[in-house]
Amino acid sequence: MNISVVTIFPEMIEVITKYGVLAQAIKEGIIKINIFNLRDFTKDKHKTVDDYPFGGGPGMVMKPEPFFNFFEFYKENYGTPYVILTTPQGDTLNNDLVKELSKKDNIVIICGRYEGIDERVMNFVDKEISIGDYVLTGGELPAMVIIDSISRFVPGVIDKESLENESFNTGLLDHPHYTRPRDYNGNKVPEVLFSGNHKKIEIWRRKMALKKTLEKRPDLFLKKELDLIDKKALIELFRELDTNA
Ligand code: ADE
Repeated sequence: MNISVVTIFPEMIEVITKYGVLAQAIKEGIIKINIFNLRDFTKDKHKTVDDYPFGGGPGMVMKPEPFFNFFEFYKENYGTPYVILTTPQGDTLNNDLVKELSKKDNIVIICGRYEGIDERVMNFVDKEISIGDYVLTGGELPAMVIIDSISRFVPGVIDKESLENESFNTGLLDHPHYTRPRDYNGNKVPEVLFSGNHKKIEIWRRKMALKKTLEKRPDLFLKKELDLIDKKALIELFRELDTNA
């Protein structure tokens, strides 16, 4: 997968290419990240990327020309991309959108700054994406969130089993995890995890995931289609709640 980012702060984006899973995926050639400095696509001496808004008002607006120059260059060299603009006005990023985006192989993310971008740049944009209902100083952090989250779904980046079991992909929040020591100052790891009985462990994990989801995200629980293990786990859960009452 090819992901390109166009920004006035390329160093911000570079950071995520250097660490952890993403760095490994880049090294293995599964993901390629190209970072473009918008200023390189200006034609004036001062490399101007913003200007005053027509009609007045506060702040500055990102100029159209550098974007038009960028897309001309990009299409000539890399083909036609799927273009994302990070903006608080966009669709809110969620797991379904992340999965959908992970199937595209040529993505350009435009990082907005200042008051906004000249509306004519919208001709290039396929999708406006927000990472939540709050306003950031620019689109670089959202671009990093988008890159990180979609990369995880690209085959070969994370093992399939981890993805299948994690929060949202199962429709439930994740179950609790434990590692050594077995007893930390009297805080014990649940006995079932040492039983060696995989079926029992699976039902216990599902029960914990269902409990957590019911408590913290009932909206997700209501959308969940229950399979046989969910049903068995729920029966156990209700029995326990009943005996604890
Ligand atoms: N730019 C500024 N705030 C943003 C947000 N919440 N999501 C995406 N891009 C943004």
